[in-house]
Amino acid sequence: MAALLPITHLLWDTWRGNLTVNPLQDWTFRTGDWALRLLVASLACTPIATIFGFKQASSVRRALGLYGFGYAVVHFFIFIGVDYRFAFDLIWDDLATKRYILVGLVALLIFMPLAITSTRAWMKRLGRQWKQLHKLTYIAVPLAVVHYIWLVKADLRDPLLYATIVAVLLLLRLPWVRTQISKLKYRRVFQKL
Ligand code: HEM
Repeated sequence: MAALLPITHLLWDTWRGNLTVNPLQDWTFRTGDWALRLLVASLACTPIATIFGFKQASSVRRALGLYGFGYAVVHFFIFIGVDYRFAFDLIWDDLATKRYILVGLVALLIFMPLAITSTRAWMKRLGRQWKQLHKLTYIAVPLAVVHYIWLVKADLRDPLLYATIVAVLLLLRLPWVRTQISKLKYRRVFQKL
């Protein structure tokens, strides 16, 4: 429900005429921002559950990922449908000349099979392969961050902040790092006894 607030806010601002002088850009930026925030939040769920023991985080991981993908789809349709009015020759030109568009599209295409197979039925059907397939998110989220880094012209602070957070979240998944964290946790438990 909380993930629906940004789009509700955006619709409200549109209705009230509270957008900037470039409403289309507002929509593109705000949907892009929320897509990335939710996708990164989804990536953060497992480390939060395993390191801090906040198990509830795991239960919202899928929803956060799906809403993030939903915002990315809206973001994409604003670009191709509203901004370019499905003028595929122009879109093709942009794909060929603007690397941030290409990398954004690759990220979105990677998320597509992950969103489709996110149901329990697909989880059962794919068995072990499901986990392997969903590891593609470790590629797609960084690509979305690269999309952001490449599109920014001057102030790189925000995209670099995302890059740092994503790098830390991915490092926490490395087996060596996980072993060290577990050792640290056990040591603290024994110290308390
Ligand atoms: C998972 C997929 C994607 C994510 C997470 C994402 C995220 C973002 C973010 C965070 C921004 C910057 C917002 C800001 O500056 O406040 C942005 C901008 C933008 N994105 Fe994406 N994006 C994705 C895919 C795409 C795709 C597939 C396209 C088009 C094919 C696209 C086109 C754009 C455009 C045109 C801008 C604005 C660039 C500008 O005016 O400077 N994005 N996106």
